[in-house]
Amino acid sequence: MATLRIIFFVTLLAALVWAAPAPARIKKRSFKVPRYINTPVHARGLDGGAAVRKVFNKYNLKGGFIAQEKTGTLTGLDIKASNASSNGTGTVAANPGENAALFLSPVDIGGQTLNLDFDSGSSDLWVFSTDLPAKATTGHSVYDKTKSATFKQMTGAKFQISYGDGSGAAGTVGTDAVTIGGVTVQNQAVEVANAVSQSFVQDTNTDGLVGLAFSKLNTVNDGTKKTPQKTFFDNVMGQLDLPVFTADLDPDGTGVYEFGKIDATKFQGEMAWIPVNASSGFWQFPSAKFAVGNQIVDNPTASQAIADTGTSLLLVDQQVAEAYYSQVKGAQLNAQVGGFIYPCDAALPDISVAIGDSYMAKIPGNQITFATVDKANTTCFGGVQGNSGAGLQIYGDTMFKAQFVAFNGGNQSLGFGEKPPVA
Ligand SMILES: *[C@@H]1O[C@H](CO)[C@@H](O)[C@H](O)[C@H]1NC(C)=O
Ligand SMILES: *[C@@H]1O[C@H](CO)[C@@H](O)[C@H](O)[C@H]1NC(C)=O
Ligand SMILES: *[C@@H]1O[C@H](CO)[C@@H](O)[C@H](O)[C@H]1NC(C)=O
Ligand SMILES: *[C@@H]1O[C@H](CO)[C@@H](O)[C@H](O)[C@H]1NC(C)=O
Ligand SMILES: *[C@@H]1O[C@H](CO)[C@@H](O)[C@H](O)[C@H]1NC(C)=O
Repeated sequence: MATLRIIFFVTLLAALVWAAPAPARIKKRSFKVPRYINTPVHARGLDGGAAVRKVFNKYNLKGGFIAQEKTGTLTGLDIKASNASSNGTGTVAANPGENAALFLSPVDIGGQTLNLDFDSGSSDLWVFSTDLPAKATTGHSVYDKTKSATFKQMTGAKFQISYGDGSGAAGTVGTDAVTIGGVTVQNQAVEVANAVSQSFVQDTNTDGLVGLAFSKLNTVNDGTKKTPQKTFFDNVMGQLDLPVFTADLDPDGTGVYEFGKIDATKFQGEMAWIPVNASSGFWQFPSAKFAVGNQIVDNPTASQAIADTGTSLLLVDQQVAEAYYSQVKGAQLNAQVGGFIYPCDAALPDISVAIGDSYMAKIPGNQITFATVDKANTTCFGGVQGNSGAGLQIYGDTMFKAQFVAFNGGNQSLGFGEKPPVA
């Protein structure tokens, strides 16, 4: 009962805050959302699919990227686990702990709970819905706007997003009360899918995405022109103790997203702050140095990099990947598998990548392997891969497992802290 009252009070307070025209910042707060792994019962990884999907996603990156850059419609960018096909020779002995495709967090929309992928590499909050054909929603939780007392249609508004791996979604748009970690945004733009790519259909663990990049990347239009809607983070920022969210991922990819607070017990030493170049809409920064072991290499022509929780791997410029794997005995670039592989018993050096001018983010050698590539577990696929000249380095989960990262929307910066080493 006491708990209920507290919840009610907090909800009321939140409602008051949101009702006020100029946010009356009475009570600031922070909240946590778990990011959990696919349970084995759900994990398509068990049939060898998950890691292959990721491999293929990596493969698909180049095409998706270049095509989108050419047409100037780069709207979002992710390498998502989205293709259950195990075509090719890369039969992966999947270990759900290592390879599980997606990491999801529960989100309440108008009283309906869906499992959404928190993605700092895009800016649309879209959901599987009853507007999709029934056969596309098998195995998914779907949002039924007609059953939400708080849904409001945005007349004429539409969205269409395509990700770097070729997947995508489209549909109509409304607003609803969206609650994450107990904190509600009353009129959050919710994009209601009526079309999704086959890869999302097959990803029965994912009911949609919560985009956490800058709102300018949001794809909503009113039928004639772009009308970007604010992300959940942009909407909730004023209610938070600090205008941040943090990604704290464990080596198995589970972890916690925390909004409003930086938990200094989760990393060693001082946090390093790096200003981001938000002009592209991504959490982007220069990364013109890398190190293999302790050997620092200046790389003035490097592509800029983005911090992307929606990507599994650390995708570096091709020559950086080559430099790294030149130090791994037996490593080779295998076109069929779609990336660098090596004998699983090879000694892997640490890799560090520059985050802005002042920080090197280190990923220990024992956290580099992403998956095994054969049933006998003798050949491994690296969590560090080349971007095939895509013109952007994409730092995903491989980095977040070793680095605690704070995304600061207030002064548009990223905070990095090294996580304690794992045995
Ligand atoms: C693999 O993909 C290729 C081209 O997409 C196709 O021609 C081939 O039949 C596929 N093989 C399998 C085993 O699915
Ligand atoms: C999966 O990937 C393969 C190879 O890239 C492609 O041929 C196939 O169309 C994809 N399937 C889906 C469902 O996306
Ligand atoms: C951004 O804010 C944090 C504190 O929230 C501060 O420590 C940091 O120095 C600021 N960074 C920049 C680049 O202004
Ligand atoms: C910021 O990013 C844009 C777009 O990616 C790039 O063209 C520009 O050079 C970057 N600016 C700085 C100062 O790095
Ligand atoms: C390969 O690794 C997985 C995951 O650790 C394990 O379940 C499996 O038994 C291993 N296979 C062999 C042949 O050692």
